Formats: sequence, C-alpha cells, structure tokens
Amino acid sequence: MLSHKKSLLAISLVTLTTANFLIASDAVSSNAVNPNAISSGEVSSDTVKVKATEGSLKLVMQSLLKDTQELTAAMLNEDFALITTKAENIADHPKPSMATRMKIMKAMGSDMAQFKANDEIVHKAALAIMTNAQQKNIDGVGDNFKKMIGGCLSCHSQFKYSVSALFK
Ligand code: HEC
Repeated sequence: MLSHKKSLLAISLVTLTTANFLIASDAVSSNAVNPNAISSGEVSSDTVKVKATEGSLKLVMQSLLKDTQELTAAMLNEDFALITTKAENIADHPKPSMATRMKIMKAMGSDMAQFKANDEIVHKAALAIMTNAQQKNIDGVGDNFKKMIGGCLSCHSQFKYSVSALFK
C-alpha cells in the first residue's frame, strides 16, 4: 500500500500530467526548442497555449512551466545534477518588466503581500530542492517539490484570473 506521502506525490504528478495533456491539445506552437527562449520573448513547448510578449508575466510563467516539467523528469530519473539546474532556474526565475510589475502592484493593493508570499514559497522550496539534490536525497526532493507545486497552485487559485484580466 502507498504511504500517505507517496500517494500525495502520485496525485500531484497525475495532476501535472493531466493538466499538461489538456493544455497540449490546443497548443499552437511548434516542437522546436529554443534555449534562449526567455530573452527572445518566446518559449517553445508542447504545452504553451499562446505567445507571450517580452516582459510579460505570462512569458515568465511559460518558462516556469517548462522548467517544472523538466524538473519533474529529472526527479523521476533521479538525475541530481539536472534537478539542481532546473530547481535553480525556478528559484532565480526572471522577473517581468518594471512596467508589468507596477501594473500588478497598483491593481493588487494590499493583496500584494499575499501574492509575494506565494512567490516566496516557490522560491524557498526550489532552493531546498537544490540542497536535497546536492545531498542526493530524493525523498527530500519529492517533499519540497510538493511544497513548490503547492505555491504555484495557491497563487493561481488566488490571483491568476484577476491578474490575467489586467493584461487582456
Ligand atoms: C505569485 C503568484 C504565482 C506563482 C507563485 C506562480 N504563478 Fe503561474 N501564473 C500567475 C499568474 C497571475 C498567471 C496569469 C498570467 C497572465 O495570464 O498574464 C499565471 C499563469 C501561469 C501559466 C499560464 C501561462 C499561459 O500561457 O497562459 C502557467 C503555465 C503557470 N502560471 C505556471 C506556473 C508554475 C509552474 C509555477 C510554479 C513553479 C507558477 N506558475 C507559480 C501567478 C503565479
């Protein structure tokens, strides 16, 4: 029988995979991989729905998705060097442009603290994953991966809809 921990991880992985599958079905982008994606204002992945403009939060998010997918694969393959690289990308993810950040802050007002707290959960969990990977501690990687994904989902459930509407 699966332990509680393991079944939680299984659920989060299934959720990830299912979500990706749903998004992939209306993907418009090609399979081409562009390693300089973030700086060129374009992230190519099977799971990217729409093109995002340079400096947008959407572009940052599409890049986070790609790193999270690659981190998932590295974790399941127990490739600790790759886990470290991908977790580092997530921990130090690029920020959207100043103009984008100002617009978000202005619209959000006092909710900004909560928004930032979610970003901090992801940041801290990604740093912890790096430490776990350096210690070749796959259970630790799994536990902190769950915390990290929890931060992604928590911010989305609180803010994704309203922030997305700002940029339409
Ligand atoms: C601090 C809040 C916050 C955190 C943390 C966060 N997101 Fe997001 N995410 C958003 C918002 C807001 C949007 C909507 C952006 C828009 O539509 O302009 C979004 C949108 C997305 C999208 C949809 C992009 C598209 O093409 O429409 C993906 C994918 C995504 N996030 C992935 C992630 C992943 C993976 C993580 C964690 C590693 C994460 N996000 C963490 C706030 C957050």
